Amino acid sequence: MKFSGQFDGLFDEVFRRFKKKENTAQTEAQELELERKNLLNPHSEFFIREAYKTLRTNVNFALAGESKSKVIVVTSSLQSEGKSITALNLSITFAMAEKRVILIDCDLRRPKQARLLQIQSKKGLSNILLDSNLLQSAIKPTGLHENLDCIISGAIPPNPSELLGSVRMEKVLEELRQNYDYVVLDCPPINMVTDAMVLAPHSDGVLFVVRAGQSEKGPVTHAVEQLQYANAKILGFVLNDVHAEGSGYGYGKYRYGYYRRNGYYSSRGYGYSRGYGYGDGYGYGYGYESQPPAEKQEAP
Ligand SMILES: Nc1ncnc2c1ncn2[C@@H]1O[C@H](COP(=O)(O)OP(=O)(O)OP(=O)(O)O)[C@@H](O)[C@H]1O
Ligand SMILES: [Mg+2]
Repeated sequence: MKFSGQFDGLFDEVFRRFKKKENTAQTEAQELELERKNLLNPHSEFFIREAYKTLRTNVNFALAGESKSKVIVVTSSLQSEGKSITALNLSITFAMAEKRVILIDCDLRRPKQARLLQIQSKKGLSNILLDSNLLQSAIKPTGLHENLDCIISGAIPPNPSELLGSVRMEKVLEELRQNYDYVVLDCPPINMVTDAMVLAPHSDGVLFVVRAGQSEKGPVTHAVEQLQYANAKILGFVLNDVHAEGSGYGYGKYRYGYYRRNGYYSSRGYGYSRGYGYGDGYGYGYGYESQPPAEKQEAP
C-alpha cells in the first residue's frame, strides 16, 4: 500500500508533538518535585521549622480571645508571593501541635493544593458550594499528617467571588468549625480579585504574605488599606523567601519570617522599580476584577 504525498511529514509532526508533550510532563513533574521540597516536614531545615513554630505561636497570640475554633484567611497583594505554600505549611505546624486542621483551597481560579498534595479527586469547594451534601465526601486526608485534612478547589466555576461570598460558604465554615480547631483558607491575592475580601468577614483574621525581593510597597499598602476599610482583622504579616545570607540567621538559603502588625517593612525596603501594571496578564486570567474602593469606615 502506498500513501499519497499529503501524508509526508505527518509522522514527524505526530512524533514532534508527542515528544513536546513528554518534555512538558517531565518539566511539570520536576517543578512539582521542587515545590514539594518547600513543604514542611520533620526533616526540613531547623530554621524553617523554627520560623513556622514562631509563626504558629504569633498567630495564636493574635487570635487569643477569638472563638474556640479559628478560621484564618491567608492572602497577599499580588500573585506568586507564597500564599499557598504558607497556608499549607502553617496548617502542617498546627497539625504537628496536635490540633485538628483543615486547609481549604479557596483559590478557585489558580488552585494549587490538589497539585501540591497530589489529591486526585475532582470534588472540591466549588462542588460543595453548589451541593452542600458533598461536604463530607470532599474532605480528603493530606497524607502529610493525620491531623490535617484538605478540601481542594474543585471544578473552576464562572463566578468564584459570588460562590465564596454566598451564605452556603458561611454554612460550610460553620460546619467545619464544629470539627476542626483551625480552618485555613488559601485565598487569591487582594489586588487581583475580591475573593479574599469576601471571605475575610467570615474569618477570625487575615494572615498577609509578603515575598522578599518581589512584593512592593504600593501594592502591599493598597491591599492592606482594602482590608482595613473592610474592618478585617489583620493577624500579622509573613515575610516569605528571605535569603538568609547576611541577614542574621545564616542557615542555608531561605528563611521565613513573621512580622507583627506595623512591622513588616523589612530593612530591604520596598520600591516601585518593577512597576506592576494590573493589566498585563497575571494569569488570574478571568479578567482583572477591579475592586470598587470599599466604603471608608470611621476608625473605632
Ligand atoms: N520561601 C520559598 N522558597 C522557595 N520557593 C518558594 C517560596 N515561597 C514560594 N515559593 C515558590 O513560589 C511559587 C509561588 O508560590 P505559591 O504558589 O505558594 O504562591 P501563591 O501566592 O499562592 O501564588 P498564586 O497567586 O498563584 O496563588 C511556587 O513555585 C513556590 O514553590
Ligand atoms: Mg496560591
